[in-house]
Amino acid sequence: MVVHMSQSSAPASVSSLDQHGQAETAQEIVSLDAVSFGYSRKRLVLQDLNLSIQQGEFLTLLGPSGCGKSTILNLIAGFYKPLAGLVTHGGEEVKGPSARRGVVFQSNALFDWMTVEQNIGFGFRFQSLSKYEKRQRVDTIIGLVGLRGNERKYPYQLSGGMRQRVAVARSMVVQPEILLMDEPFAAVDVQTREGLQEELLKLHEQVAGAILFVTHSIEEAVFLSDRIVILDRNLGGIAHDIKIHLPDPRYTAMNRVSDAFNQYRTDLYLKMKAIG
Ligand SMILES: Nc1ncnc2c1ncn2[C@@H]1O[C@H](COP(=O)(O)OP(=O)(O)OP(=O)(O)O)[C@@H](O)[C@H]1O
Ligand SMILES: [Mg+2]
Repeated sequence: MVVHMSQSSAPASVSSLDQHGQAETAQEIVSLDAVSFGYSRKRLVLQDLNLSIQQGEFLTLLGPSGCGKSTILNLIAGFYKPLAGLVTHGGEEVKGPSARRGVVFQSNALFDWMTVEQNIGFGFRFQSLSKYEKRQRVDTIIGLVGLRGNERKYPYQLSGGMRQRVAVARSMVVQPEILLMDEPFAAVDVQTREGLQEELLKLHEQVAGAILFVTHSIEEAVFLSDRIVILDRNLGGIAHDIKIHLPDPRYTAMNRVSDAFNQYRTDLYLKMKAIG
């Protein structure tokens, strides 16, 4: 089943050559143009940052603590405004939060007094849809994130991994054009984390939106991403922009151990070390 997300208005068309010299045509969904931001005027966290995310792209931000990864997500989400420059979504300036942009953080507060399906349904708070449509969408997403059979459970009855799935489902149920994920799997154990990564890739395959993901794990970034951007705290911007080419389907165990995977991992590790 394919869930079609609504198209944004008039996105820019971008043509470029990838590292194999192949022509690529992509539609830009979100862009930061010459964005500067700081929490105080004395120190800018981001300086003249240019970053664009293509429709359907899985883009990951890597970089040392404090380099501004969460700040970028918050700017795109519309929680903060840039001091200079422009953040656009579908060619329009981002002026505040919108259901067109979903957000998932490391620890997502689920409501203890709501069941799994009620927590997911909370995602509709900004949207007016018929009860029938809401029920259909909640039911579909529960299947996609592997929570079938847990619809009536309360958060205290769930494992950490299941709670994160509820949070992902809550942000996906509104079919956002872009999903912003800030270290969403950092607080779960390694096995659960691998399972969640694989489910996220399957979800991304079926739901045609872009994902902007933040992690500290190089392995997680390589396994999940079409493209990785490494940020440098001293530059207040991008140090490296790297395309990742691994065979489809991406969620196979081979893609965690192959030579290609290891090469990307080594390359990224050295680039991160050089930044410090
Ligand atoms: N609300 C805030 N008020 C003041 N300074 C802040 C605030 N949030 C972040 N900062 C500062 O801005 C800089 C960038 O923070 P940000 O949270 O974006 O980094 P990050 O790359 O997400 O780091 P981490 O990997 O640790 O999550 C840091 O120096 C941080 O101390
Ligand atoms: Mg952060």
